[in-house]
Amino acid sequence: MLKRLHLTASMLALFCIATFFLSTILVETMGARQSIAQLKHLIVSPGLWVLIPTMVLAGASGMLLSRSRQGRLVGSKKKRMPFISANGLLVLVPCAIALNLWAATGRFDTWFYIVQFIELIAGAVNLTLMGLNVRDGLRLSGRLRRATPHGQ
Ligand code: HEM
Repeated sequence: MLKRLHLTASMLALFCIATFFLSTILVETMGARQSIAQLKHLIVSPGLWVLIPTMVLAGASGMLLSRSRQGRLVGSKKKRMPFISANGLLVLVPCAIALNLWAATGRFDTWFYIVQFIELIAGAVNLTLMGLNVRDGLRLSGRLRRATPHGQ
């Protein structure tokens, strides 16, 4: 049950970040300002309302699962989680809110694109760290074979 919760929450959180990231790149390169503003709004609501709880659930269920597990893979996942959370709460969320407010008032100035760039970098960092957590999680659950025989 806990494993299923962890798998569902973590994959949903990863899916949210990947969707925000890809749709932002698509709409910023091809879309009109109105579509950009619409996407910025959707990322904040309902986007953040799905992302934040699933991220909290992924972290909390992961910590509970790790009580009965030890080793390098669990240690690496634990070390990545504070960076994922800090990056999400201190960079991604404020950027998403600021971009939404600015886009809603038609403010597409230099600051908009600087903050957009920061958001994309932070998104790419979190996608990478979460991807590594998925890989290590699948190795821990035995769904993915380890590359080295002494991986743990
Ligand atoms: C957003 C961050 C995280 C992601 C994306 C993630 C992803 C995953 C995935 C995909 C699995 C495989 C589940 C399965 O095959 O049923 C897994 C398993 C696992 N995760 Fe995470 N995880 C995250 C955070 C954490 C944290 C913070 C911990 C705490 C150390 C953790 C501990 C574990 C453990 C112990 C397992 C193995 C469960 C088992 O089979 O016994 N995870 N994780």
